[in-house]
Amino acid sequence: MLIKTLTVLDEQYQALNNDGEDVIQGLTQTHKTLPPKYFYDDRGSELFEQICELPEYYPTRTEANILSQYADEIASIIGNCELVELGSGSSTKTRSLLDAYQKIADSGRYLPIDVSGGILKTSVIQLQQKYPNFFIQGLLGTYEQALVYLKSTHPSPRLVFFLGSSLGNFNPQECEHFLHQIAETLNPGDYFLLGIDLQKPKEILEAAYNDSQGVTAAFNLNMLAHLNWRFQGNFDLSLFTHQAIYNQVEHQIEMYLHSQTNHLVSLDILNLQVSFQAGESILTEISRKFDLENMQQQLAAQGLKPVKNWTDSQQWFGLILCQA
Ligand code: AVI
Repeated sequence: MLIKTLTVLDEQYQALNNDGEDVIQGLTQTHKTLPPKYFYDDRGSELFEQICELPEYYPTRTEANILSQYADEIASIIGNCELVELGSGSSTKTRSLLDAYQKIADSGRYLPIDVSGGILKTSVIQLQQKYPNFFIQGLLGTYEQALVYLKSTHPSPRLVFFLGSSLGNFNPQECEHFLHQIAETLNPGDYFLLGIDLQKPKEILEAAYNDSQGVTAAFNLNMLAHLNWRFQGNFDLSLFTHQAIYNQVEHQIEMYLHSQTNHLVSLDILNLQVSFQAGESILTEISRKFDLENMQQQLAAQGLKPVKNWTDSQQWFGLILCQA
C-alpha cells in the first residue's frame, strides 16, 4: 500500500488570506450577503453530504449516473494522468473515475482538495484502502490555495475536475476569474472536466433547495453557527428562517436567511456589530443553472477547448470535458 498523506495548504499558499474581511463586507451592505464558503465547517460538510442523498436534490444522483455510465470513455479519451479534484467532499462520485483508471493503469495519483479536514481525512483513508495502487494525497485548503499549489508543481499530464456544479455558486465575474485561473494552472494538453447543473422548471429547482426534511434549512442556518465559532459571534439561529427561490431572469437559485425580529448581532473577533430588522434577509448562496452550449463557449474563450460533453436523458445535468 502506498503512503497516505494529508497536506495542509497553509500560509505558503494563502495568496488571498483575508479571513473575515468578506464577512464584514457582506454584512455591512444594504442588501446583506455572506460568502457560501462559510457553509463548510465539518458540520456543514456533513449536512451537505445529507443533502446529496435527499430525494428532491437530483444533481448529485444525476451527475453520479452520468459519470458511472461514461467513466470508461472519459478515461480512455484522456489516458493515464494525475487526477486532481477541486472540492472533493467525500469523493463518492469520483469512485467511478478511479475504477475506470484502475482498469487502464497499474498505478495512479489522486489529489482530492477540500476545505473540510474531517471529511477529507476520512475519505483519503477509505480511498487508500479501496485503491491500494493509487498514491492519494489529500490537500486541505481553498480553491485559491489549491490552484497556487498546483501551479507550483508540474507533473503532466493532469486532469483537474470540478464536479457537483460548484461553479454555480460563483457569480458571473467570479466564474470567469475561476475559469481563467484553471486555464492558467493547466499545462497545454491537460484536461478539465466540469459538472454543471442545467436550466429546468422552477418547481423542480425550488423543491431541491427547500427539501421536506429541512436538511437544506439546517445547512443554511449552520453558516451562522460556523461564524459564531470562528469569529466569536452571538447569532441566535432560532431568530432566522431559511428560504430558497428561483430567479428565472438570472437563472439562479437564491438562498436566504430571513431575520424574524429586530435584533443586534456581534462578531467580536471582527469587531463588528450588525443590526437586523424583522423580515430583513441575508443572501447566503446563489446556485446558477447553466446552458450547456453557452458554457462550452465560455470555456473556449479561456483557451479550454471542449472535447466532448455528456448529459442524462432529461438533460438535467451536464459534464463537459475540455483540454488546455
Ligand atoms: C455545492 N453546491 C453546488 C450546492 C448547490 O446545489 O449549489 C450547494 C447547495 N446548497 C443548497 N443545497 C446544495
